[in-house]
Amino acid sequence: MRFDVVSIFPEYLAPLELSLIGKARTEGLLELNVHDLRAYTADRHRTVDDTPYGGGAGMVMKPEPWAQSLGDIAEKSPATADGRKPVLIVPSPAGEVFTQALAYELAEEEHLVFACGRYEGIDERVLEWAGDQYTVRPISLGDYVLNGGEVAVLAMVEAIGRLIPGVVGNPESLVEESHSDGLLEYPVYTKPSVWRDREVPEVLLSGNHGKIAKFRKEHQLRRTAARRPDLIDALDVSTFSKAEKNT
Ligand code: ADE
Repeated sequence: MRFDVVSIFPEYLAPLELSLIGKARTEGLLELNVHDLRAYTADRHRTVDDTPYGGGAGMVMKPEPWAQSLGDIAEKSPATADGRKPVLIVPSPAGEVFTQALAYELAEEEHLVFACGRYEGIDERVLEWAGDQYTVRPISLGDYVLNGGEVAVLAMVEAIGRLIPGVVGNPESLVEESHSDGLLEYPVYTKPSVWRDREVPEVLLSGNHGKIAKFRKEHQLRRTAARRPDLIDALDVSTFSKAEKNT
């Protein structure tokens, strides 16, 4: 799988050289290239922004450097087996919300390109223009505003990249984590069994796998109901009760 990131702050993406994603890059499980948007400007000052038409606060990113960079990247896109277009992800608080389900969907793609906007955003015509070469998807991390797309890209690349087979050493750990079944993960404990007068729940020391599974499911439900009642409302109860019968 290939990722390309375009930003005026390429150094912001340096953490993607670390940990599991960095290792996956070294091992060739994923390719990740970071591009400096200013390298695609033609003026002496390497200008990437200008004042907004219609007035208002802040600056808007000029379209031409984006067209130059995204056009260049699209030309070099690895052709996908079924002739799919690369996906252009535009991090924006005005996008659809990024979820684990969306991470799984995007992990199936061959080539993801991220356009990190800054200031008040990118001239809207870039997103229209890019539609010929890309499937364009404005995506938001959540209902809050960041200073630019870079932090959102760090989160999305990590969430998507870890779903690529081989990136996470033990694939079992992807099965039981938060959001994999629509619920938050159960609480976890390690040694010592008594720590500062606090005991690990006894059932976890019992070796009774049926009871442990029941304890964990119950705590997933309790925790989700307390912290994220919206997820309980969204549960597909029919699938859930089938799974319950099997535990
Ligand atoms: N850029 C600014 N705010 C953002 C957000 N909430 N999600 C993604 N990209 C953003």
